[in-house]
Amino acid sequence: MSGQPVTLRGPRVVLRPWRLPEDLDPLFAINGDPAAMRFFPNVHDRAESDDWGRRIAADCASRSYGFWALELPGEGLVGAVGIKPAPFEADFTPCTEIGWRIATRFQRRGLAEEGARLALAHGFGPAGLDRIVAWTPPVNEPSWRLMEKLGMRRERVFDHPSLPEGHPLRAHLLYAIGRAEWIAQRLG
Ligand SMILES: CC(C)(COP(=O)(O)OP(=O)(O)OC[C@H]1O[C@@H](n2cnc3c(N)ncnc32)[C@H](O)[C@@H]1OP(=O)(O)O)[C@@H](O)C(=O)NCCC(=O)NCCS
Repeated sequence: MSGQPVTLRGPRVVLRPWRLPEDLDPLFAINGDPAAMRFFPNVHDRAESDDWGRRIAADCASRSYGFWALELPGEGLVGAVGIKPAPFEADFTPCTEIGWRIATRFQRRGLAEEGARLALAHGFGPAGLDRIVAWTPPVNEPSWRLMEKLGMRRERVFDHPSLPEGHPLRAHLLYAIGRAEWIAQRLG
């Protein structure tokens, strides 16, 4: 099912489609922040951040899910969280990934977890997905710990195809969760 863009609401966060161009400023506050981007190959300059924002906004508008803008009412846009098709080819693609970025000063408040649970419920519910994966370099402990907190299983290590041989972030952990596991965890 592809469907229309949707907005998901949790107790604190709202996952909504992007509003351009106004969302590009708060997005750059995240993508241009060396602390938020410390486990990425590079901190974005303004052009890279805008380009990424326009791509995820267009992708999010194309079906019922994507990387949504994560809004904290009263604070505005403080992150990007969601599910979307993997953007590269590997032996485990095509597949749907879950991902997250939260502004540094809003981290450790449970916002990524709340957004991720909304995204997984939408993916395994209305969107009808069977399996959702995630990846991150081992050094990004906040990210893989979040994957584990969500009940995702560590499957293996793979070389990220977008990074050259020898790059310090090339080895990535692959995590996954299937619809039956997700449902079982919610019932258990
Ligand atoms: C990863 C990230 C999205 C987590 O966002 P967050 O809103 O701070 O996470 P939450 O507060 O919802 O935390 C949920 C769980 O994630 C894990 N976690 C989050 N931050 C952590 C940290 N600094 N160290 C260890 N575990 C952490 C914990 O298991 C936590 O549960 P707990 O609080 O009960 O211990 C955030 O650190 C971030 O935006 N990082 C920069 C962008 C990034 O690296 N994205 C991932 C690319 S693969």
